[in-house]
Amino acid sequence: MTSGPAKRQHRQEAEPPVTTFTVPYSGISNRLGEAEARALTEVLNQDTLAMGPVSRRFEEAFADYLGAGHVQATNSCTTALFLAAQVLDLNEGDEVITTPQTFWVTPWPLQARGVRIRFADIDPDSLNIDPGAIEALITERTRSIWVVHHGGQAVDMDPVMDIARRHGLTVLEDCAHAPGATYKGRKVGTIGDIGCFSFHSLKNMTTGEGGAFVTRHADLAEKARALGTIHTWGPMAPRSSSRIGPHPRPAYYRDAHTRSAFEYDFTGGYEIGNNYRMSEIAAALGVVQLSKLDQLNARRQEIAQTLDGGLQDIPGISVQRHRPESPHIHHLYTLFYDPAEVGAPKDAFIELMQETEGIEIVLRYFPLHLLPEFRALGHQYGECPAAERTYFDHQVQLPIYTHLTDAQIIHMIEALQRSVATLQRRGARS
Ligand SMILES: Cc1ncc(COP(=O)(O)O)c(C=O)c1O
Repeated sequence: MTSGPAKRQHRQEAEPPVTTFTVPYSGISNRLGEAEARALTEVLNQDTLAMGPVSRRFEEAFADYLGAGHVQATNSCTTALFLAAQVLDLNEGDEVITTPQTFWVTPWPLQARGVRIRFADIDPDSLNIDPGAIEALITERTRSIWVVHHGGQAVDMDPVMDIARRHGLTVLEDCAHAPGATYKGRKVGTIGDIGCFSFHSLKNMTTGEGGAFVTRHADLAEKARALGTIHTWGPMAPRSSSRIGPHPRPAYYRDAHTRSAFEYDFTGGYEIGNNYRMSEIAAALGVVQLSKLDQLNARRQEIAQTLDGGLQDIPGISVQRHRPESPHIHHLYTLFYDPAEVGAPKDAFIELMQETEGIEIVLRYFPLHLLPEFRALGHQYGECPAAERTYFDHQVQLPIYTHLTDAQIIHMIEALQRSVATLQRRGARS
């Protein structure tokens, strides 16, 4: 039998290569333990694995942790963002301002609904949206600002909220990297109108796949509750009679949808919801992971502090500025490389770090406006110079997760010292 390209492709996906990196980019943010195993055993004995008590318990615990807002657990941050675009009623003809320095999914729900996306440039140190770049992009069609707390450090929210207030815009916070991060003492996700969280395997706390939709507005929460669980949403009025044809309302029924068929009529159009719900299994993990979140974030901060200290005297390397109003919880660890000072391009540095030192480098993120999907809409190089300069010349992310060993952390510091010294020597020789 011959094996065609499709088959080879499948085999490759089924059997990933064994990693030989000294510091791999781990697929899980923290090693789960006994408490998670116990919670899973318990939930597997429940009478249901969907729409049960544990998802509700997780939602209450997360709302408690955030200290504000209504929480709806979802099966990912992507679905929470899709729900947000629908709940905010963003449609073709509307414009939303966001950052180019994010995972491509942030603007996807907007893209899918025909909303025009305007990219505001970034602050080259925090990699967050630059509030000073937002106002110039506002037109009479602008409806919302979607910020992303990049890498786990809060956006400077005061000026963003001030712009939104002055122009009557809503604000969405993409908190995929930032569960537990604060801005001036407030948890992110509760400052804007909606916050969307991710509990994907890589995130600071995980439910495998999972997310949360958070809003401080009761009316948006009610709409999200309906649309996030395959109900419909639209204006309704009580029916004058609870008969359908010759049939009176039955005495015994359980289903909310059936009940509304006898009791209500739509008085206008309605929207159709989707199943964005978190499973009981994921929620069981979530309850335990949430109880560890502050500790997990503290471990990331400790690793980042060691790295910051170890890198501070390496020529051509700088680290992110500390901002007391928005402590970094380091979903990502970002450093900046200076090609002019080292005398070699960033790619040469990354090649040495990967190929010679065995540190798996994954860059977060390619400027979105330069993806083919956005270039096809007329976006082009030069639109966000700080995002472009930072990505192509300076920014580097090192692997960070709570189970990094001290030896791996020291190896990363020494590898950086060696790589820069090697490149400087090569430069001096040529
Ligand atoms: C900034 C950002 N937003 C949204 C998402 C989507 O999260 P999920 O994988 O839970 O759908 C990610 C995922 O990495 C992300 O980094």
